[in-house]
Amino acid sequence: MPDFERLFEKHPAPGAFSCRCTYHHRARPSANGESLSGAKRAARNRQRRRELVENGSSHGILVYSKDEPVGWCQYGLREELPRFDNYPSYRQPARESGAKRLWRITCFTVDRKHRQQGVASSALKAALQAIRDGGGGIVEAYPIIRRGAYREYLGTVSMFQKEGFKVVAPFGKSNVAMRRSV
Ligand SMILES: CC(C)(COP(=O)(O)OP(=O)(O)OC[C@H]1O[C@@H](n2cnc3c(N)ncnc32)[C@H](O)[C@@H]1OP(=O)(O)O)[C@@H](O)C(=O)NCCC(=O)NCCS
Repeated sequence: MPDFERLFEKHPAPGAFSCRCTYHHRARPSANGESLSGAKRAARNRQRRRELVENGSSHGILVYSKDEPVGWCQYGLREELPRFDNYPSYRQPARESGAKRLWRITCFTVDRKHRQQGVASSALKAALQAIRDGGGGIVEAYPIIRRGAYREYLGTVSMFQKEGFKVVAPFGKSNVAMRRSV
């Protein structure tokens, strides 16, 4: 938790400081304080992150350069990260995944000074290992299909392709849903 805070206090990407990657933990917007002003929202979501850590539903990978945290990747079970279930453009893949558990990879944040150096890709590799260690299942991600697209925090298609993910459905205009089993 202290190193997560160290990274997010640096404002590593737009919105990261105020969200603390709690967006996907909330099923609906009203519950995420999205109507609050920046400072109030940041305080609320910092507290929310603490609660998630304390109740065991916060899962993520921190990447370091020397002793400095420079990147973050959030993953978790679908039940812990339910937001996309309420998106009209999301096509319920869990029905096809049978008895296997469904995991989601929902957020990447890399400090601006450390981008294009493989930080997010390393975080993804480590997240997949952690999911494997946690019992595995189907892993789903929602990366952007072109540079400059909205919701870059979901990662990029090439990162996931390199880890063996395949496109399973479009997701809005600039993202796709990708999956693999681990
Ligand atoms: C998108 C992001 C996670 C990529 O991190 P990174 O550490 O620079 O990525 P990597 O160096 O591991 O690169 C992975 C691949 O994605 C590509 N890539 C990197 N940034 C990209 C971008 N912005 N758009 C498209 N592709 C990109 C790289 O070229 C590489 O592909 P390649 O190996 O085929 O060349 C990073 O730019 C970021 O954190 N952006 C801000 C996200 C954000 O707003 N987070 C806060 C939300 S609350």
